Amino acid sequence: MGNAGIQYTNALTEGPDGLEATFTVNVLANHLFVRLLQDRFAAPARIVITVSDTHFGDFKHNMGMVPGPAWKSPDALARTGAFPEPDTTSAGRTAYSTSKLAAIYLVHEYARRLPAGIDAVAYNPGFVPGTGLTRNAGPVSRFAMRRILPVMALTPLATSRDAAGRYLADVVLGTTRAPTGSYVDRGRTARSSEESYDERREGELWEAAERFTAA
Ligand SMILES: NC(=O)c1ccc[n+]([C@@H]2O[C@H](COP(=O)([O-])OP(=O)(O)OC[C@H]3O[C@@H](n4cnc5c(N)ncnc54)[C@H](OP(=O)(O)O)[C@@H]3O)[C@@H](O)[C@H]2O)c1
Repeated sequence: MGNAGIQYTNALTEGPDGLEATFTVNVLANHLFVRLLQDRFAAPARIVITVSDTHFGDFKHNMGMVPGPAWKSPDALARTGAFPEPDTTSAGRTAYSTSKLAAIYLVHEYARRLPAGIDAVAYNPGFVPGTGLTRNAGPVSRFAMRRILPVMALTPLATSRDAAGRYLADVVLGTTRAPTGSYVDRGRTARSSEESYDERREGELWEAAERFTAA
């Protein structure tokens, strides 16, 4: 289960290897885990990577809170300053949605490359207010995420933390049926964005992720 994820308020933060931190945590760390552990999985097994419907980039999926992904070559995405005005929250959130698109690309690549019976699935919890995801945001955004937006979980627009945890457990345990390579939107498989099916980008990203995570 690759659930760790982070969102920054700029696209300039470096991770420990000097690569951009959103890409490092949301993409490369999961890739490293998959590659380090892949020989230890016994079929049938399922790898789940938490992604986000912000990868769609439209209002229906992000309610205007997160800009859509802005794909570039993986070598550019892995570096700080990949997006315009990189010191802004908007650039940090673009890095976030782009990293989640990247994670979906890698799930498609895992589905092609992992041995039969070792499945890979992308899981989208929907908008889950009240988590620590925006811990790097300013005090107003943090207050809204902690105290105001959780009310949205009472509407269909958002998922409560409890519900997100249950959906996550169901997909990890296989209670939610999903073929390898699929996208699970909360409790059921769905199609991810049109942009997220791109074998050329998937192959390029795999090659770059292998290079960046090589010992
Ligand atoms: N909240 C939403 O609306 C939403 C929507 C769609 C998808 N998601 C995704 O859901 C997943 C969980 O996020 P959340 O909303 O539950 O936020 P969260 O409460 O901040 O949880 C994020 C988790 O990632 C870990 N993490 C972050 N940076 C790390 C690092 N550098 N090294 C190791 N662990 C790190 C955190 O560990 P520590 O607490 O120990 O730092 C924490 O356990 C993420 O992948 C996120 O992108 C969230």
